[in-house]
This record gives sequence, C-alpha cells and structure tokens, in this order.
Amino acid sequence: MAKQHASFVCQSCGAVSQRWQGRCESCGAWNTIAEESPASGIGAKTALGARKGRIFGLSNLIETDRPAPARITTGIAELDRVTGGGFVAGSVILLGGEPGIGKSTLLIQACAALAATDRRVVYISGEEAVDQVRLRAQRLGLGGAPVELAAETSIEDIVATLGHGKRPALVVIDSIQTMWTELVESTPGTVSQVRGAAQALIRFAKTTGAAVILVGHVTKDGQIAGPRVVEHMVDAVISFEGEGGRDLRLLRAVKNRFGPTDEIGVFEMTGRGLEEVANPSALFLSSRDAAAPGAAVFAGMEGTRPLLVEFQALVAPSSLGTPRRAVVGWDTARLAMVVAVLEAHAGLKLGQYDIYLSVAGGLRVGEPAADLAAAAALVSSLTGVSLASDSVFFGEIALSGAIRPVAHGMARLKEAAKLGFCQATTPQGPPEQGRNKGDSSAKELIVRSCKHISGLVAEIAASRPKALDPGRPPQNPRGR
Ligand code: TYD
Ligand code: MG
Repeated sequence: MAKQHASFVCQSCGAVSQRWQGRCESCGAWNTIAEESPASGIGAKTALGARKGRIFGLSNLIETDRPAPARITTGIAELDRVTGGGFVAGSVILLGGEPGIGKSTLLIQACAALAATDRRVVYISGEEAVDQVRLRAQRLGLGGAPVELAAETSIEDIVATLGHGKRPALVVIDSIQTMWTELVESTPGTVSQVRGAAQALIRFAKTTGAAVILVGHVTKDGQIAGPRVVEHMVDAVISFEGEGGRDLRLLRAVKNRFGPTDEIGVFEMTGRGLEEVANPSALFLSSRDAAAPGAAVFAGMEGTRPLLVEFQALVAPSSLGTPRRAVVGWDTARLAMVVAVLEAHAGLKLGQYDIYLSVAGGLRVGEPAADLAAAAALVSSLTGVSLASDSVFFGEIALSGAIRPVAHGMARLKEAAKLGFCQATTPQGPPEQGRNKGDSSAKELIVRSCKHISGLVAEIAASRPKALDPGRPPQNPRGR
C-alpha cells in the first residue's frame, strides 16, 4: 500500500502544499501553514472502491405538493428581517463578529424568545461555563426561559446528546472554533477541525431539520477566522458589526441561500442587552445640527428599507502642498470622483482645499445614489450656505456631470415625508416609472429634479443671502 504523506495546509485559506513553508504561496499569509495527516480527514477512511455505491432516489425540481420550507421566527424583528423572515428549518447559519460585539448576547436573547414559544432550544457554549451563560441570561431578565444549556466542545458528544429526546428547533454552537471532532487529528481551531466540526453539524441539521447557528470569530482584518470553506458550506453567513463610538450594532447578511443579502438589522447595546432600533433614520438624524453649512441629508436604502443619514463635509483652505482628503463611512474613490466632477463641470476650484467627508452616526454607505448628497454637502461647506434643514438629496453623478436616476425613488421620498422633510432634490424623471402611483404620502414633498451637477451648485449658491456676500460669482464664491 502506498505510503500516506502528510500534507501542509494553510490555516488562512486552506491551500494544500507538499512541504512546510513560512509563507503561503496561495494567499501570501505568513506562518499559517500547519501539518495535517491525510488519514485523519473526514471521509479518509472510506477509500474509493472500498464499498459498493448505494442507489438513492432522485426527486423532481418541480414538486407541487411540497410546502415552502418552514421558518422559525424569533419575534426579534431586526433579526428575522436579516435572515429573510426567520431561520429556515434544517439550515445552518454562520454568525461572525469581533469578540465582545454581542454575538452571545444576541443569540441567548433569540434562544429565550424561541424557547418561550414552546420549542426545544439548545445553547452549547464552548467558551463560557454554564453558570456564566445563566448569569448573563438572568441579568438580561431571561432567567425564566426554558433554554437548555451545556458547556461542551466534543462534536460527537453534542450530536449524540441532541439526537436524544425531542427534536430541537434551534441549536446554537458558540463558537465553531472551540469545537473538535475525533475524526480529525489536529488541534481545535485549525482548518480541518473547524471544517470537520461544521460538516458534522451541517449533517445533523439536514437530517433532523433543526436550525443550527454557528458562531464564528472574526480576525483583525474582518474575515471569519478559520477556513473560508465554512462560509461556502453553510446556508447563510451573517455578520454582526459595531458602528462608530456609540452602542449601535448592525446585523448584515453576507450570504443567504433562503433570502436577500442586502437587509440590515439595527440594534443598540444597552444595560439590558440588545434592543431593536425599529426606526434607524430617526436615530441617525437625532443629534443633527441642521443649521450648520456642510450638512446634507441623504435618502438612502439599506436592502428594502429606506434609511436617512446625514452627510457632513468640511472644505477648508489647505496649508499643505497636497491637500488632505479624508472620508469616514463612504468610499474615498467616490469622493475623488465627485470632487473631479464638481471641478470639471460646475466650475468649482477645490484643488487648494482640504476636504473631509463623514457619514454621521458611523454608518457605512455603499450606494452610488449618495453622490448627490455628498456633492451638496461639499458645495454647502465651500460656499458657507446652509442647506434647507427640511430637505433630502439622492442621485448618482455621472462623470459627465449628469445626475442619473436611482432605484426605489418613491420609497426614499416616502421615508423622508414620514420623518417630516418637505423638500427633495432628485434626479430627473418620475422616481419610479408609474409604480406606486396611488401613493399620496410622498406627494407632500416639493421635489426638485436636477439634471446636471451645475444645476445643484447654482441652486445652492442662489439660496445664499445676498446681503452677506454681494460681489462674488454665484457658482464659486470662496474658490480661487
Ligand atoms: P458578548 O455577547 O459576550 O460578545 P461576543 O459573544 O460577541 O464576544 O458581549 C459582550 C459585551 O457586551 C461586553 O463588552 C458587555 C456588553 N454587554 C452590555 O453592554 N450589556 C449587556 O446587557 C450585556 C449582556 C453585554
Ligand atoms: Mg461570546
């Protein structure tokens, strides 16, 4: 029989090499290669040809009599929204996040909410003792919830225990990196252990119909530690992030086989655990100083939910040879583009100015629709003209200076109207080609459609009180 060679596996990307190296050739990470025995992997013992294949039944793609997969809703609306309407029975979800962000807190709250609806819920901690978990639950006022607890790390023992008695509706494994399976020889936390443990739990979920949540640690650069392969194996990957200095927490679906991936859930960490933020727009705009120049409210979308956030800009003469450009919460390249378009097509001269742009509240905006709000904030700061405090902006700016229409125009306007805004500057054309026609709530807004960036600049400059600054050209009052 051929001699089994040990292989060397990168713990960061999972690449296999024949000898040990200081640096992984595949992903370039240093000191991540560890020796793993091929005879120890899952499936290693059933060499091909050792047994005859079993014939299994095939089913049809179109199966009319089968109901949609059952979903288990927790009643925590922000969590249910991100999962696409509740956990799907038999699915496996990976919840990633930095240490201390509140993963265990969120999950114990979800477990307690589910257990209260008379379902079997099991919470297995590989990091904390049962007493610690219990103490936390008591502090959160969830001490009475019939959640079953254990502090265990052996996958074989866990699967055997879970298979005993009533089928659990939800199983939480906190965290996957602390679990180990006897089928793999390497230490817990290594690629093959994490993969082996995840595989066993996925098999458990598929065969029993229980929803399983795996908690995954996140490395410094924001990746879920251990192999990326786990992300490919599970049905959904959800990340839990903290934003800014406040106690805001955002839940985001990165991958979801059973729902959308662009929804966010907003929570606030309080002394009584995580509380849902049902109206994030109000929260993001709460500490706004509307009268200050350089602030523009962006009517954005996060998934299917409209979200209003404030863009703040500071444009100040620079004392440096190369002016500074700093962005928080938005894309630096996008700012450079908007600045270039303002210079090329609206006659502004920004080359001698330091430019700072920040999205208030610590949210990260990725939409191109934010271009117009960013431009408005920049022009407002440059000219010293405050924008109307009851006005919102959205629209994508093309390199030609044209303002392009964006999706969900009507939803954005409706959210703005709901929060008491009266004016909107938008791209030209009906916001949503005839859809939502019967809707009256957004009609109370005065909508100014803007075809070209120069129109926006002229409009802001025109609203400048003339008595204060009589002699300068309208489009570039402070420029040189
Ligand atoms: P935890 O859920 O243990 O984080 P993770 O599992 O992601 O590592 O959360 C720990 C943090 O949350 C800790 O720094 C304290 C804070 N916290 C509160 O502010 N209020 C609370 O009610 C709880 C339980 C935790
Ligand atoms: Mg934890």
